Amino acid sequence: MSSPFQGARPAPAPRHIAIIMDGNGRWAARRGLPRAAGHREGVLAVRRTIEAAIGHGVEWLTLFAFSSENWRRPIEEVTDLTFLLRHYLRAELRELAEAGVRLHVIGERDRFGPSLQAELAEAEARTAANRKLNLVIALSYGARAEIATAARRIAAAVAAGALDPAAIDETLFATHLATAGMPDPDLVIRTSGEQRLSNFLLWQAAYAELVFDEALWPDFGAANLGQAIAEYARRERRFGARPEPVPPPAAGAGG
Ligand code: FPP
Repeated sequence: MSSPFQGARPAPAPRHIAIIMDGNGRWAARRGLPRAAGHREGVLAVRRTIEAAIGHGVEWLTLFAFSSENWRRPIEEVTDLTFLLRHYLRAELRELAEAGVRLHVIGERDRFGPSLQAELAEAEARTAANRKLNLVIALSYGARAEIATAARRIAAAVAAGALDPAAIDETLFATHLATAGMPDPDLVIRTSGEQRLSNFLLWQAAYAELVFDEALWPDFGAANLGQAIAEYARRERRFGARPEPVPPPAAGAGG
């Protein structure tokens, strides 16, 4: 006997996955290594995750690499992180570009030195025509500051007489965010067992599915991403997708 669910298509992979990469420090501490070793290993996980995301046909991947709160860490760690990012760009930009990755940076990039800012802009420009995967790196990013900045810009436009307050709606507001033009994340993953958003994409993640993975970020890889996508698909089937009943056989169809 045929089930009414037989005709249901599998839920599609999320179009946009955003990841809070957490646990580098604990990964290092468990091995008696300096925190920098955890961040270095975290870069390898970034590489694995990008490859796996491309394999799943994900269009947008946002990685929370440095929060606006991370400036409060000791100067040595901030230096390690910015060094790693610069090294990553220099070592992997060509490969990323060849794989069809387009790089975007969101966050207060002007808080970094002029040479890193120039390298970020160069990386964005060099990959601007790529379409396989949009890789968004959130750097010195904080959602509350992003929302406050958007509000300030909108208020200035109103004060200048260029914008009617009645025209301010969710769509207009979103065009003033750092993510203007990007789709909202469908799935937000946080590693290391912590279950918080920590000021990440607060506006954009309003309807995102949240998946918390116990793995420390340096241990994250293709299998973890696959499990998170499978969990997302299960939830989509439960709450979102409406199973399509199997259509009745066409009149006169033999068999
Ligand atoms: C959180 O672990 C991770 C970070 C603050 C930085 C993430 C950065 C990288 C993975 C490397 C560079 C990124 C790119 C995109 C090349 P934590 O230090 O807070 O860990 P803990 O909570 O265990 O201390």
